Amino acid sequence: MQTILTGIRANEEPTIGNFIGAYKTMINLANEHAADSRINMFVPDLHSFTTPIDHDKLYAQVIKGVKYYIAAGLDVNNPNIHVYRQSHVPAHSELAWILDCFTYFGEASRMTQFKEKSEEHADAITVGLFNYPILMAADILLYDAKYIPLGEDQFQHLELARDIATRFNNKFGKEIFTIPAPEREQVKFMHLENGLRIRSLTDPSKKMSKSSTNEKSKISLNDDPEEAAKKIMSATTDSIGKINFDMVNQPGISNLMTIKAMLAGQDIHDVITQYAGLDRYGDLKRDVADVVKSFLTDFQERVAKISDEDVERYLAEGEAYANEVAKAKLAEVQRAVGLIR
Ligand code: TYM
Repeated sequence: MQTILTGIRANEEPTIGNFIGAYKTMINLANEHAADSRINMFVPDLHSFTTPIDHDKLYAQVIKGVKYYIAAGLDVNNPNIHVYRQSHVPAHSELAWILDCFTYFGEASRMTQFKEKSEEHADAITVGLFNYPILMAADILLYDAKYIPLGEDQFQHLELARDIATRFNNKFGKEIFTIPAPEREQVKFMHLENGLRIRSLTDPSKKMSKSSTNEKSKISLNDDPEEAAKKIMSATTDSIGKINFDMVNQPGISNLMTIKAMLAGQDIHDVITQYAGLDRYGDLKRDVADVVKSFLTDFQERVAKISDEDVERYLAEGEAYANEVAKAKLAEVQRAVGLIR
């Protein structure tokens, strides 16, 4: 059985960028493949404090993160679908240390996310932030996951996981780790033409980032729906004056069309045909704002109906499964490196 796996950090309120790039993609794949694949949707809670956070809020955010998975349509009652916390499966941390010793400082230093985040948090560049992609590699390799639905910003980390796994297998002369599929195959598996990257509403040359301090740049999943609609109405576009789907020259307008298609469950080509050549940006914005408003209203209602107790129960089940699989893989690795017989 193949494994499809992904995780979304719970340190900050996720945005519609995360929803479109990770939740929705993963859940569509889960619905499509749950009969013949293992679906692991975990919470990378150890990844939450690679940059400073409010630790008093973390536990509740992790529980809310799982509610988001369920509200977004993950069928946690399906026996092939598992939710679990990284911190509750100790093999993740143990494998991360071992993989650290098979990762070169130079290759880890090339990660662009580390460079960007260390600029943002210049006063607190931790070793954990540097190490982040290697823990991520452990998250993936412990479960022999082949497909890892991710937004475009994470493809470099996936490539690093592939490199580490290949190096490890070659060194020990056996297929200890399944090598995750390469980027192009992942994108095809996700039914996307390109990687997904929802842009900032105020600067569409950048991605919409949940850690941005500019509230207008992003729509968070707990935003008031009316406020969110206003943010769409004031989104930065361009002065070309004709609607075209062109991520290079008209990224703002194209981003809005993508958001509409993804949240309304429409084919992007239909959205493009509907608006192509029109000159009233306001009409498009109003339509997108309506879609965002009704999406958030509906999503937040669904979240409110899920109890903490239910989430704890799903996690306990998922963690029992994850510990069994991860421990067995870790033992194979420990044997290969000479820690056990
Ligand atoms: P995180 O929480 O930063 O991002 C979660 C997912 O959301 C995607 N994403 C976006 N997609 C489209 N447009 C955007 N503007 C946007 N912003 C974020 C990210 O690409 C990601 O897919 N390192 C992971 C968490 C993780 C993980 C793993 C994932 C840890 N271990 C193992 C898969 C497998 C991350 O970036 O989370």
